[in-house]
Amino acid sequence: MYRDLAFDTDNYLIDEQELGDSNYGLDDYTLSDPDFRDLDFDDYSLEEPETFLDVPFVPTDEKVVQAMLDLAEVNNKDLLYDLGCGDGRIVVAAALDRNARGIGIDMDPMRIAEAMEYAGNTGVEFMVDFIEDDLLEADFSQATVVTLYLLDLVNVELRPRLLNELRPGTRIVSHAFDMGDWRPDERKSFSGINLFKWLVPAKVAGIWQWQAANGDTYKVELQQKYQRVKGKAWVNGKKAQLNNALLSGDLLELLVQKDAENSPISFIMRCEENQLVAADGDFQATPAVKIDTESN
Ligand SMILES: C[S@@+](CC[C@H](N)C(=O)[O-])C[C@H]1O[C@@H](n2cnc3c(N)ncnc32)[C@H](O)[C@@H]1O
Repeated sequence: MYRDLAFDTDNYLIDEQELGDSNYGLDDYTLSDPDFRDLDFDDYSLEEPETFLDVPFVPTDEKVVQAMLDLAEVNNKDLLYDLGCGDGRIVVAAALDRNARGIGIDMDPMRIAEAMEYAGNTGVEFMVDFIEDDLLEADFSQATVVTLYLLDLVNVELRPRLLNELRPGTRIVSHAFDMGDWRPDERKSFSGINLFKWLVPAKVAGIWQWQAANGDTYKVELQQKYQRVKGKAWVNGKKAQLNNALLSGDLLELLVQKDAENSPISFIMRCEENQLVAADGDFQATPAVKIDTESN
């Protein structure tokens, strides 16, 4: 589970995979083509003159849709939201091919009508819903998967809501565009298309204390930027070494070394409301609780 994390340099590693052309051959255009990127979006309006779309409608190639669903590992327990759903193809494919429920949000009533018709024609209308709304305002907090084919600036505008309103561990997959300085956990490329995946990180910054199975008391002070975590550690009130800290959705792994005589101990904790609970079989005896004071 461990990878080297470096907060202050830019060499943070992500799982990156070059798929090659054979896996999902496609022959279509993309929103990231220079022709699309150079569009003046202020000129792109719906029929009601005061309503402006943030992104024009460019559908995702069906093979890219499947690659996005694969990357997000969509399954029958998921509720997928496609923000800016266009003709509904991602939501419908998730229902048809992965048995997942889905909700599409689009500001263009024409797209919503097309999406509903498509869902009806494919027989998945009971698993999906399409809502005419502004994706920057709509409630998507119940999603377990969010898909995006927007522009990088729109992704960045959405970013605080994705981080604050989605549950830790929620998967986000974006076609073509990244999320500014929130680096993806995984990236795939094929045929000139980039797909990015993030796991919504739990909020772990702060001072935490717990007891290990051998009676030692551990304390860590963690700083966090997105999924990157670093900090300091103490064992029984004495300064120790926090050799590594890795956050993946709601799972936090801390590698703490008491002193030079002892090997580092790995604690794997799941973030639950205001406490960090030991994963099964871990060396941690009590949940880590947040403490306010600096007392060692
Ligand atoms: C590039 S298309 C992606 C369509 C679909 N997600 C796909 O991948 O095939 C972007 C969609 O976002 C919609 N859109 C743009 N701005 C929006 C906004 N502020 N709120 C909701 N939908 C928006 C557009 O109408 C368009 O259908």
